[in-house]
Amino acid sequence: MTVAEYKRRRHQLMRMMGSGSIAILPSGPVARRNRDVDYPYRPDSDFHYMTGFPEPDAVAVLIPGRSHAAYVLFCRERNPEKEVWNGARAGQDGARETYAADDSFPIGDLDDILPRMLEQCERVYYAMGCNPELDKRMSEWIKDIRTKPRMEVQGPLEFIALDHYLHDMRLYKSRSEIKAMRTAAKISSKAHKRAMKFCRPGVKEWQVEAEIVHECARAGARDQAYPPIVGGGSNACILHYIENSDELKDGDLLLIDAGCEYTCYASDITRTFPVNGKFTPAQKALYELVLKAQQAAIEKVQPGSHWNDPHDAAVKVITKGLAELGILKGRASTLIRNEHYKQFYKHRTGHWLGMDVHDVGDYKIDGQWRLLEPGMALTIEPGLYIPAGTKGVAKKWWDIGIRIEDDLVVTKDGHDILSKDAPKKVEEIEALMAG
Ligand code: GLY
Ligand code: MN
Ligand code: MN
Repeated sequence: MTVAEYKRRRHQLMRMMGSGSIAILPSGPVARRNRDVDYPYRPDSDFHYMTGFPEPDAVAVLIPGRSHAAYVLFCRERNPEKEVWNGARAGQDGARETYAADDSFPIGDLDDILPRMLEQCERVYYAMGCNPELDKRMSEWIKDIRTKPRMEVQGPLEFIALDHYLHDMRLYKSRSEIKAMRTAAKISSKAHKRAMKFCRPGVKEWQVEAEIVHECARAGARDQAYPPIVGGGSNACILHYIENSDELKDGDLLLIDAGCEYTCYASDITRTFPVNGKFTPAQKALYELVLKAQQAAIEKVQPGSHWNDPHDAAVKVITKGLAELGILKGRASTLIRNEHYKQFYKHRTGHWLGMDVHDVGDYKIDGQWRLLEPGMALTIEPGLYIPAGTKGVAKKWWDIGIRIEDDLVVTKDGHDILSKDAPKKVEEIEALMAG
């Protein structure tokens, strides 16, 4: 992302806020792993979206209409001794010169400077509840302003949820965001292919995970967007299985839900395939059904469809198919109305995708499903899960868990599938695994 793009975003937000307003965005804390070991730092998505500033301990302040400095960045000071141990810091000069801040102050000066900025504004845009430490300081600053004599300062009168505005902006991906997401999806697709080629009876789930992580890391995507799910047999029926601790068995299916993060943009791909490279007739029947449901859902991803259209399409195909296979009994329309499919398909058909894997943005507006528009990115991921012992379902269907998940962007005249390099047709998968 270029400095100019971050600038455009800040200007867009500031135009929406209008003068008399202030927006305050923290960078997000470093998370402690244990004792003196921290997790690698990953910036807060909102902060990163607005600033591109990669360091922790920073607060961005936007004051539209302020002639001398509309964008102020508080950040760490340069410190040659610490930089020897932990790497370079931008410092206040870097904040201005490299990250286009109009002005910059040491983060340690926040308590002195920010309250004075606050008291001159009528409206505060802030995401309350996302950063407990800053929430606390914010309420102290406001309390102090309110106890000052009225004649001196008025102080802010209105608090507005910044996340609401920002998340609507983040929902519409720019050309360069789509490019980053396409790269993430391409890297992950390659990783899924590698897993298919590597997989055979007797290997361990964590070994397959290692293949995936390795393939992504060597392509420059060192982080996964979420912990990979690598579940064989019955583990494929556990929706959030991340132990990845079992051996893969001949005759089972393997479900892999894994996607890397690339330059802070997520991919989210699921593929399901036979451990031994060949689907059994029962596995194939259910797999083809999920694939058909996915295809029906994907066809609904176009401008003008509403958010729930793809889900409705998938539910229709899945319910009808389950009735034809005798797994559900009754008329499809009744089964849909009474939501009987939920016994085997509990989750929804997708979610927004972006800097966060379950990305931000409202799904409904004024109680109505949102219409899809160009630039919106989402997953399409129907599934079917039949654990062993499911009453009233023949044994041949037990321990089959299938999900097929792709990443899409809505385009002017339909959609673009970012994850299309990951094979999903039965013949494609079997051919790849046989080779
Ligand atoms: N990997 C999380 C999801 O598919 O929603
Ligand atoms: Mn997903
Ligand atoms: Mn997923």
